[in-house]
Amino acid sequence: MTKLHPHERTFVALDTSDLAQALALANALSGHVGGIKLGKQFFTACGPKGIEAVTNCGMPVFLDLKFHDIPNTVAAAIKASLVFSPYMVNVHACGGETMMRAAAQSAEEAGQDRPLIIGVTVLTSMDESDLKGTGVESSVSDQVLRLASLSQFSGLDGVVCSAREVEDLREHLGEDFKLVVPGIRPDWAQKNDQKRIVTPAAAISIGADYLVIGRPITHAKDPVEAADKIAAEIAAGI
Ligand code: C5P
Repeated sequence: MTKLHPHERTFVALDTSDLAQALALANALSGHVGGIKLGKQFFTACGPKGIEAVTNCGMPVFLDLKFHDIPNTVAAAIKASLVFSPYMVNVHACGGETMMRAAAQSAEEAGQDRPLIIGVTVLTSMDESDLKGTGVESSVSDQVLRLASLSQFSGLDGVVCSAREVEDLREHLGEDFKLVVPGIRPDWAQKNDQKRIVTPAAAISIGADYLVIGRPITHAKDPVEAADKIAAEIAAGI
């Protein structure tokens, strides 16, 4: 598994439409977390200029834009994202092998600065009956493993997954395949709308590489203190 300093494990989800708020948090948290995750809300509201401004704060950025389209379009979107030198970018694994290979190949153009290309398997908001509605008869866990294996076979660097899937994926896909895990809650934080949660240290101990943590940090009275506390808990394994 990746040897990272405890504070480098966390990507803070800046789920906001407010650029000034995002920049204030990104500047304050610099050096206290591994990076920043920017998703569709931020991108739709603040655009490429917003991404550029957050990137200029100097921390690694995970562009959580979940591309899913024909291979040519996804490859072009990945290529367009390289201007921001993102650390990670993601695509939907159900876009298939050709699409994922095109994404991975497009990332190669960045050479040494190539972003990690991460697959999204089954959205954790979907259960077995949702899958069935889309024509997928497998259990959620079988479908997650199938799509994660396909992601690896297609040249991706890892997948986003829930904590409940980490051990199975780690066992089947090896030590080098990156597992990026949201749904993280320290004991002292509110659950909000997350249902299946684990603590930061527990997620790392079962094999997660990166944790995506939003509100426990961004809504804390003191976000820097919350980030430091999380890093200390990871270091202590508690
Ligand atoms: O605030 P919180 O820690 O719940 O934020 C988690 C982040 O991870 C949000 O950006 C959310 O969209 C994202 N995410 C998630 N569960 C998934 C996939 C992504 O919570 N299965």
